[in-house]
Amino acid sequence: MELSLIGKTVLVTGATDGIGLQTALTLAKMGPRLFILGRNKTKTEQTADRIRHETGNPTVETLVGDLSAQSEVRRLASEFKARSNRLNILINNAGAVFVKRQLSPDGLEMTFALNHMGYFLFTTLLMDVITASAPARIINVSSAAHMGASLNLDDLQNERGYSGFKAYSQSKLANIYFTYELARRLNGSGVTVNALHPGFVATNFGKSNGGLFRSLFGLIQFAAIKPDDGAATSIYLATSPEVEGVSGQYFDKCKAVKSSPISYDPQIARRLWESSLQLAHLPETSRI
Ligand SMILES: NC(=O)c1ccc[n+]([C@@H]2O[C@H](COP(=O)([O-])OP(=O)(O)OC[C@H]3O[C@@H](n4cnc5c(N)ncnc54)[C@H](OP(=O)(O)O)[C@@H]3O)[C@@H](O)[C@H]2O)c1
Repeated sequence: MELSLIGKTVLVTGATDGIGLQTALTLAKMGPRLFILGRNKTKTEQTADRIRHETGNPTVETLVGDLSAQSEVRRLASEFKARSNRLNILINNAGAVFVKRQLSPDGLEMTFALNHMGYFLFTTLLMDVITASAPARIINVSSAAHMGASLNLDDLQNERGYSGFKAYSQSKLANIYFTYELARRLNGSGVTVNALHPGFVATNFGKSNGGLFRSLFGLIQFAAIKPDDGAATSIYLATSPEVEGVSGQYFDKCKAVKSSPISYDPQIARRLWESSLQLAHLPETSRI
């Protein structure tokens, strides 16, 4: 059956490259009003032109900003709401790995700031529009890299013993805690939220780090799948009737699978939520 998103509004973050770009291209063919979010104005506008041209969907709009900076996330959410009072599908996809420890404009460790706080704050700020658009779906691109990771709630900024892979794995575990906690909070609202592993995908991921890391990443990419295959589970969760009403699950290859045992700990999920509210200067009563 050909799926249709005509009349729906969709937003994909990190849609200028890799998995997000392929996700946006495929969804655009189904006819929604599509917002693509990128951090580089020229690249984002060129990507929107390409999507319009390749899919014949004229309703592709751009949002440009840095999701690792909270002021930018707030501006992006406001800009979106000024242009649309509907959001049926939000795909939180933009993410990166940082080999050297860096700080965001808010003084947070960059991996945590972009990969976790970017998803958390953007979603929280858009929640009123999303719930008003129910049935709606939120999709968080996580990673199997979360397996084996654990969160130190007393050192979320990884000040002690930083490693890029450790920080990345922890941020992808945070995506899963966020998904499960949000699903509990949204129970009965008509809004579902699920997380996924896209596979090991040949993209630009990790390449901005340069040096040995970039070379190593390039070398192992022979084993990776293509971005259009890497987008399959995001597209499935966004569109398939099979997952209508399914929430609080972790998917791999379009199937619900178990995430790591500790990712199911509701106490850690709740404490991460509370810390995230504080770090974003949001009140406990905010939105959800
Ligand atoms: N590739 C894999 O094997 C793999 C495996 C598991 C999970 N994932 C996850 O999949 C998601 C997408 O990764 P990918 O492999 O497609 O990587 P990618 O090719 O590097 O694409 C990342 C996208 O995010 C955007 N982005 C990066 N930093 C941003 C920021 N500060 N603000 C706004 N946008 C930003 C990039 O913009 P530019 O175009 O300007 O760079 C790009 O559009 C990530 O969440 C990643 O953790 C990937």
